[in-house]
Amino acid sequence: MADDKLGAYNIFDLREQALRRVPKGLFEFCDRGTEDEVSLRNNRSVFDRIRFRPRTLVDVSKRNPEVTLFGNKHKMPLVIAPTGTAGLLWYEGEIALAKAAREAGIPFTLATGSMTAMERVADEAGGDLWFQLYMWPDRSLSQKLVERAKAAGYKALVVTVDGVHAGNREYNIRNGFTIPFTFTPRNILDVLLHPRWMFGVLARYIVTTGMPRYQNYPTDVRARITAGPMGRSSLRTDSLSWPDLQAMRKIWPHKLIVKGMLNAQDAAKAVDYGADGVVVSNHGGRNLDGIISPIEVLPEIADAIGKRATLLVDSGFRRGSDVVKALSLGAHAVQIGRSTLYGIAAHGYEGARRALEIYREEIGRNMALLGVNNIGELGPEYLQFADTALRPPHARPSLKLMDGARAAGE
Ligand SMILES: Cc1cc2nc3c(=O)[nH]c(=O)nc-3n(C[C@H](O)[C@H](O)[C@H](O)COP(=O)(O)O)c2cc1C
Repeated sequence: MADDKLGAYNIFDLREQALRRVPKGLFEFCDRGTEDEVSLRNNRSVFDRIRFRPRTLVDVSKRNPEVTLFGNKHKMPLVIAPTGTAGLLWYEGEIALAKAAREAGIPFTLATGSMTAMERVADEAGGDLWFQLYMWPDRSLSQKLVERAKAAGYKALVVTVDGVHAGNREYNIRNGFTIPFTFTPRNILDVLLHPRWMFGVLARYIVTTGMPRYQNYPTDVRARITAGPMGRSSLRTDSLSWPDLQAMRKIWPHKLIVKGMLNAQDAAKAVDYGADGVVVSNHGGRNLDGIISPIEVLPEIADAIGKRATLLVDSGFRRGSDVVKALSLGAHAVQIGRSTLYGIAAHGYEGARRALEIYREEIGRNMALLGVNNIGELGPEYLQFADTALRPPHARPSLKLMDGARAAGE
């Protein structure tokens, strides 16, 4: 590692470094998708079907990637998505991730299933903190969690609605990757082959707080979490429905965001129910295989709610150009999940900082080469769609328009 770039010139470099540092079972838990990983691949390839149409001779010397979300100004159009595993990839990785977000001037979302307690993240990292909620079967426990988030100063509550059942991730079972960690010959070897992780993360937890645990869970429930394949927490409910959202709206006084929608009618209904924002997401291709990519429905959801609510999107973003494409399709900001996890896994705080720096540079470069000075200037006119299905509804030639043009011109 010759310089402060950590030998990483893009997010894929950080991914390679992460792969070398952490046990394969843990890496795959973070990196992979579900079943045949069709959606995981489509989340990436969808960006290849959208091209840029730049403008030239525009003075871009004062370009500015700042955005305002929920009245707060941020240094770039990114938010760190909730991921329950930052604290497994690095000792207290959530604190490192939240610090990197604060330094970069963007919000950080702490997951319900994180390994570090929400109060500690707030005390030690600060910044613009959002809290993600997986609703539990016992709604009163979820309400207590939300009360804690309020007391700890979290500014937004992100209710995840696409996790009512865990995805089918066969590799986790094959890798014996469970929480709390149960030792099998396969994963013992996996851990032994990664001594930096074994001593720097696992051993550090063992000598301080013991085996990593879901520190936001109530104590009695925490003790009951025995080895089940990761992500299959018995605490998730499959009865989540609209009244739950209403109930959360009643008790949460700050911004309420619904995460995991891909349907314009659902998104509009969420806003009618009082949501301030919606995250268009397929959970990074981790839950339902064969599901559409958020980018494929972003334009119609932007048409439905873009003027009434804050529109966020995630799943598959690895480049600044991906972010610029999504903003051109109507998103107000992009959430990134694995990108900063790779950074955390490889180098802790420094790696997350580097991941965000890469995005900042790439977004700025793309803005310059597109002839854009402010994020608000971006729109579908900067894009060309190799796949007509991706074209935003208002940019498609409708019959009415074509008839009108004919009437006027002929
Ligand atoms: C390892 C991992 C853990 C995740 N845990 C959660 C979670 O606890 N809650 C949640 O709402 N989303 C979770 N997600 C989904 C992310 O919030 C986000 O939707 C997804 O990672 C975006 O895709 P990307 O990783 O391609 O950026 C997780 C994703 C990953 C990769």
